[in-house]
Amino acid sequence: MCGISGYVGPRKVCDIIVKQLKKMEYRGYDSVGLSVVNENGIKTIKTVGRVAAVEKMVENANLSGACGIGHTRWATHGEPSVRNAHPHSTSKVSIVHNGIIENSEELKKWLESRGYVLESETDSEVIAKLLDFYYDGNPVGTLRKVSLLLEGAYALGILFYDVADAVFALKKDGPLIVGICDDEKFLSSDLNAILEYTNRYFVLEEDEIAVIKQDKIEIFGADNKEIKKAESVANWQAGVSDKQGFPHFMRKEIAEQPCVISNIILKNIKDGLPNFSADGIPDDYLNRFKRVCIVACGTARYAGLAGKNWIEKFARIPVDVIIASEFRYMDPILSKDTLVIFISQSGETADTLAAARLVKAAGINAIGIINTVGSSITREVDYNIFTEAGIEVAVASTKAYMAQIAVLYLFALKLGLLAGSLTTGKVHFFCNEFIDLPEILEQLFVDKEEKIESFAMLCLKFEIVFFTGRGLDYLLVLEGALKLKEISYINAQAYAAGELKHGPISLITKDALVIALATQGYVLRKTVSNVQEIKARGGNLLLLFKSGMDISEELLSNSIKLPRVGDDVMPFLAAAVLQLLAYHVACAKKLDVDKPRNLAKSVTVE
Ligand code: M6R
Repeated sequence: MCGISGYVGPRKVCDIIVKQLKKMEYRGYDSVGLSVVNENGIKTIKTVGRVAAVEKMVENANLSGACGIGHTRWATHGEPSVRNAHPHSTSKVSIVHNGIIENSEELKKWLESRGYVLESETDSEVIAKLLDFYYDGNPVGTLRKVSLLLEGAYALGILFYDVADAVFALKKDGPLIVGICDDEKFLSSDLNAILEYTNRYFVLEEDEIAVIKQDKIEIFGADNKEIKKAESVANWQAGVSDKQGFPHFMRKEIAEQPCVISNIILKNIKDGLPNFSADGIPDDYLNRFKRVCIVACGTARYAGLAGKNWIEKFARIPVDVIIASEFRYMDPILSKDTLVIFISQSGETADTLAAARLVKAAGINAIGIINTVGSSITREVDYNIFTEAGIEVAVASTKAYMAQIAVLYLFALKLGLLAGSLTTGKVHFFCNEFIDLPEILEQLFVDKEEKIESFAMLCLKFEIVFFTGRGLDYLLVLEGALKLKEISYINAQAYAAGELKHGPISLITKDALVIALATQGYVLRKTVSNVQEIKARGGNLLLLFKSGMDISEELLSNSIKLPRVGDDVMPFLAAAVLQLLAYHVACAKKLDVDKPRNLAKSVTVE
């Protein structure tokens, strides 16, 4: 949420900052701006809208200097407007901020009592004004003094008017990466935005201040003593975040899913059995738990629900799945025989991160199922299973979800094996079914996309779409509905098929579309009855079903037949179809598929 960039070096500062911001636009796109410092002080330009708008302004702005900071905003306090856009500058400082200052109202009053006029509605402006008030020529000392006054979360990039050769950074509860080349340095909220220039970086830790110069980086800890940090090296390649010929990142990321599953097969299946040794997790760590608690947000939580289904079925271990924003304030009951699993694509989601810190502080065992290597949550848990999906750019998560459910499926099999509730032969069988998936998925895209596109045109006619199913199908339609509403702005609601007649069926009329998923053999008859009830009330039906299932012709007029695989691996096929459906609806509505309104990729505020 909000992207921060910074650059120190010999190249054109504005060009590099604009390029970095373009890569981070998915973190927020309400307004954009940048500041550059030189011997004459700080210059700032900013505007509402997207990075392209500030890029145009740069051409005429004549900004020179070796150091700059930039920002792309996801509005928290105050509407998207120029005065609320970052950077917030005074004659002495300029700052870009990601996070929320919770005591900003008090600080505003304090500043006003000292004659300051706050120009914006943001919480961030108080940081600039406080730095201005306290600045005594010692940037690090002033930053520390001000940080002690701030409550909340803040990743900051800062320029001082009389320091033309350094960008400063300070972080608490928001990601900040410092990219390293021999003769230039970068600051970024996101590794992805600097990979074009370097794969060497530092991750800033809590309360660290960085002084970033062309030839060196100094980092100071909370006690203001200098810290020597080891460099990390990213193994992601620059360029993988390009669209590679696809019209949208989302479509490209859907297409990458067979490859993502293949990566997980290579890493997490050995000798035909699930294996997490590549993630460093010993078996004797995994076989001590009597209960599992999964904590996540959004799509990652829906992945957790599928995980619950598999873990309970394969390992017979009870699982709770809890929304991270609820978990952190609910005083959760956790014991030493509970394993907590945090699931997150970004590894930076504020609520999931806070929950992870809470669990760590309570001394409870925890693992992360995380896509972003080096992200904050990865540092709060005992072990991480990296989901190997590569950079996901589209705000709507697709391949990361697929990777999360893939890991959870194998993890559940592993727990089942260790618990003795599954035989080795059975686990071999389930793994073999999983190993076949990449090829089946590839073929599914070839065979079904045209039909899915035609059904997208059908969806367009409805303002409200219901999704329904039973068992794993229900868990899948929760995610299908989220995907549709997120990018097509159609009101999409998911209900367990058996729940329809406990209320929602009153909404079924000829104006409603119901998308029903029927891939689970053991509840097929029940689901079909529920679907009949919808038809009987004039509802329009789109049925997704598994080949070979016995379904009467009258229900098949609008239907998609999915390949026949075991019930437990059907979610991998159903998920891809539901993603493609949402994608084509959004395309048909000519919406900004990769950057849906009001959303951001990485939710680093509560
Ligand atoms: O980065 P995370 O996986 O922690 O993000 C969690 C949610 O914000 C995320 O899944 C969100 O729901 C997606 N935009 C859904 O497509």
